[in-house]
Amino acid sequence: MIDSSIIAIDGFASTGKSTLAKMLAKHYKYRYVDSGAMYRGITYAALHNKWMTSEGLEESKLLEGLKSINLNFEAIANSLLLNGINVSKEIRTLEVSNNVSKIATLPLVRDFLVKQQREMGKRKKIVMDGRDIGSVVFPDAAHKFFFTAHPEVRAKRRLEELKLGDPSVDFDSVLKNLIQRDTMDSQREVAPLKIAKNAIEIDVSDLSVSEVFTLLTEKIES
Ligand code: DC
Repeated sequence: MIDSSIIAIDGFASTGKSTLAKMLAKHYKYRYVDSGAMYRGITYAALHNKWMTSEGLEESKLLEGLKSINLNFEAIANSLLLNGINVSKEIRTLEVSNNVSKIATLPLVRDFLVKQQREMGKRKKIVMDGRDIGSVVFPDAAHKFFFTAHPEVRAKRRLEELKLGDPSVDFDSVLKNLIQRDTMDSQREVAPLKIAKNAIEIDVSDLSVSEVFTLLTEKIES
């Protein structure tokens, strides 16, 4: 059954999904959930606990480790709590960004997170952004959007965000990371990044935030 109380925003990295999702959540008094932060939280835990090192990933350790992981996304403060500890800053480093797509290819991780995301959806009135929200997590959502933009526009946006935490990051490494993630996210076997059935595709390259917001609210209310 079509669920009109769920808004799903998917699309490529750094297209402004979370900015718009937060604005919609505020406007409609819905709860906002950043599903990418959840994948980043697992990646941070895997690096921190050495389930994943430069040598590779130990799936058995990760599987065991997931049992002791409790993730909580606090919409109001926009923070991710990992076993009660705020790791919002730690999950945005280039190290986590460089490893998250690998973690996101693993069915055991996806199953673990999709279950939690659907649980959150049961309370209704939710705006969730990610890569597979309209296609896998909430295929019955009434409002599904898919954001695209030119890679250079996205890299510029991401660079501005990252510079706040680390002034030494450069444009080329950010662009390279984005393109690598696009490739891995689109080509993975489980829940690849693709436009969901009935989703509305929006190229945000030449649109301002308020133009995208107007477009989304018009579609939602039409
Ligand atoms: O939105 P983001 O860039 O913070 O997401 C981080 C990574 O997590 C991204 O490279 C792909 C993955 N991801 C995913 O596979 N499925 C989601 N629903 C959300 C994110």
